[in-house]
Amino acid sequence: MDLKIVNGTVVTANKTLRADVGIAQGKVVKIARKIKEPAQEELDAKGLYVFPGGIDVHTHLDMPFGGTVSSDDFRTGTIAAAFGGTTTVVDFSIQGKEMSLKDTLSTWMKKAEGKAVIDYGFHVAVTHLDDATLEEIPQMVSLGVPSFKCFLAYKGALMIDDGALYRVLLKSKSAGALVMIHGENGDVLDVLIKDFLAQGKTEPKYHALSRPPEAEGEATGRAIAIAQMAKAPIYIVHLSCKEALEKVKAARELGFPAFAETCPQYLLLSYQNYLEPDFGGAKYVMSPPLRDKSNWKVLWKGLAEGDLQVVSTDHCPFNFKGQKEMGRDNFAAIPNGSPGIEHRPPLLFSEGVNKKRITLNRFVELVSTSPAKLFGLFPEKGTVAVGSDADLVLFDPKAHFTVSARTQHQNVDYTPYEGVKGKGVAKVVIANGQVIVRDGEFLGKPGAGRFLKRKPFGLKR
Ligand code: URP
Ligand code: ZN
Ligand code: ZN
Repeated sequence: MDLKIVNGTVVTANKTLRADVGIAQGKVVKIARKIKEPAQEELDAKGLYVFPGGIDVHTHLDMPFGGTVSSDDFRTGTIAAAFGGTTTVVDFSIQGKEMSLKDTLSTWMKKAEGKAVIDYGFHVAVTHLDDATLEEIPQMVSLGVPSFKCFLAYKGALMIDDGALYRVLLKSKSAGALVMIHGENGDVLDVLIKDFLAQGKTEPKYHALSRPPEAEGEATGRAIAIAQMAKAPIYIVHLSCKEALEKVKAARELGFPAFAETCPQYLLLSYQNYLEPDFGGAKYVMSPPLRDKSNWKVLWKGLAEGDLQVVSTDHCPFNFKGQKEMGRDNFAAIPNGSPGIEHRPPLLFSEGVNKKRITLNRFVELVSTSPAKLFGLFPEKGTVAVGSDADLVLFDPKAHFTVSARTQHQNVDYTPYEGVKGKGVAKVVIANGQVIVRDGEFLGKPGAGRFLKRKPFGLKR
């Protein structure tokens, strides 16, 4: 054995047990109450949980957007992820104008190669559709990309119409892919944005006011209805409010395979953040926007009861200086997105498990197991089992943290969680059997992360 973790408490989505874990050649090879065989290295996990590495299935690293590029690339972004206890990311490659899906994917492959410190996969966002693009969907699945995002918002840029969505759903269903939806009504938002700007209402709060929760509820419900017509599964990304969750819940109650994720920002932050002085509200400009606080309870309940299956980040960082500032006189010119790749596991543990909103096992399910199952990575990823990849987090539930831009590893000049305190820290992070973070020190290597060829949707779930 190369490595042995002793005296820890192993936690999976359905078990909590005192056990040692043995690792050889990047895989878990033994789990037992006591492992007597020697190993090259031994880590004492007394008082610590041994979690499967976190999986963040919604990131935007090195992504051109709104006239600029997100500030974390695959090196800085995956290092930040690792510090928080995330050992796999699935990032969005976004089809450019006139670009094939194949070229889109290879563009993003080049961005990650030699840089990622943890394993990674890609979704492809389909932003325009013709017959040739449609025919590429099965090819993408065979290349290990069994998930496609369609935007019902960002009119004139990324948005596609309902007919195109229906065609993507039909083709994806037959190819074994899952369609992911950005659910906001782009046509209505476009009118609201133009109206506010015409009235001289340019501050960041109008970003939120031009994107009401009803627009998210409507687009989410419409996407689900179109998926029902296509008899195809569907996954709603960055779900932020009651109006949208009700649509997912109603479909699930009928037994329809509708899935959804939310993100820490929608559980911890609110519309009030847009009122920060000195253009501070720009830090929270993301889509969908932060909502009224009344949604927090609804979303936590959705996570606890299973109507929401995943917590991802939608990590899409832009510096306040020079990037968010592009929209000083026009909220619509503020690049959309916020950082969070580093803070998802500690925030969800602290706010969720410590505050008894979710159980310890549900926490593991939401940050690791369920994303692995939905996105073709299970059981290599998403659990602690013999034969699984040795992506493990030794997590100290008693260690305190304070989130701050001064101490974070994300390559961005602020964090939306500045000053948030909590308990629960990733002390040691192991990726494919290698210790990559230990007591606040990074020990990994850019380029060590591998591209993950993911399985088609529905296989081995
Ligand atoms: O504001 C956001 N969410 N930016 C990233 C792009 C997207 O819609 O996911
Ligand atoms: Zn989106
Ligand atoms: Zn996103």
